[in-house]
Amino acid sequence: MLIKRPDPIPSSAITDEAIYRERRRFLGQFALGGGALLLPGLLAAQARAEARPPKLEGVVPGPFGSEESLTSYQDITSYNNFYEFGTDKGDPKKHAQLLRTRPWSVMVEGEVARPGPIDIEDILKLHPLEERIYRMRCVEAWSMVIPWVGFPLAALLKHAEPNSRARYVEFTTLHDPEQMPGQRDRRILPWPYVEGLRIDEAMHPLCILAVGLYGHELPNQNGAPLRLVVPWKYGFKSIKSIVRIRLLEAAPTTTWQQLSPREYGFYANVNPEVDHPRWSQRRERRIGELRRRDTLPFNGYAEEVAHLYQGMDPKTLF
Ligand code: MTE
Repeated sequence: MLIKRPDPIPSSAITDEAIYRERRRFLGQFALGGGALLLPGLLAAQARAEARPPKLEGVVPGPFGSEESLTSYQDITSYNNFYEFGTDKGDPKKHAQLLRTRPWSVMVEGEVARPGPIDIEDILKLHPLEERIYRMRCVEAWSMVIPWVGFPLAALLKHAEPNSRARYVEFTTLHDPEQMPGQRDRRILPWPYVEGLRIDEAMHPLCILAVGLYGHELPNQNGAPLRLVVPWKYGFKSIKSIVRIRLLEAAPTTTWQQLSPREYGFYANVNPEVDHPRWSQRRERRIGELRRRDTLPFNGYAEEVAHLYQGMDPKTLF
């Protein structure tokens, strides 16, 4: 499938698309004598780009990429699912500024030789930061292509030294209704948000902890300061703003399974053949495009991950 080594220039090093377009318009009009009129447009585009969180230094191209067009920064950061800040797609951008992402630490516990908290600044030193351009497919049948910045989850897990009983990994989002107002309403979800993976899935090189996108730190609405990205699974597995990682002998119960086991399975591998009770999974709408496109098994990552599920009934893999 479309998994290739990306260009040696990470997208973060490329001029912001809005500034690029505005600059060309400005130069064109300037030649015609109308430069003064367009200066505000250029400044506004620059201000929009400057409003991004700080740039991440030392990002290198990662081993996986995609040739597909990237979803715009604007769409990735304003069309979100982060129920801790509300259930409308625009709510996270409006309300997630309440979240304080420093200081931040992740408690690693359970079946590991080295349990304990790890500060985000130390987590960032575990592995070089890589750009990973991945498709993201939500179970609601929309998708995006996102240039994440992150590192393999395996680097953090190995650091904690899982023991032989560790068969599953459980992830938990911050639980603080002061900062996350959606958590005041337990009718939305049973808080805190919990997700899980089998350990071999968690150790797979495609599975990352993301700390940024488009070369900048993650905006709060996308799960700052640290979120999971598992590109072959439906987006709900990619849990945001993680504060705890627990290695377990038995499979954890995830938030969505608790809410509706008929609708949400533990595996949640993208599969056009298995429909969600409310949404057909055959086709999807790429955000920013008009025509729907076919959904690919494992979201197009079958070559990399199908072997993890050999001998299992595809129906149980939802
Ligand atoms: N993590 C937490 N803590 N809370 C959430 O509501 N939503 C999930 C996932 N991670 C969610 C979460 C869902 S349903 C999706 S599709 C993705 O985040 C969306 O990620 P994005 O907003 O960065 O596109």
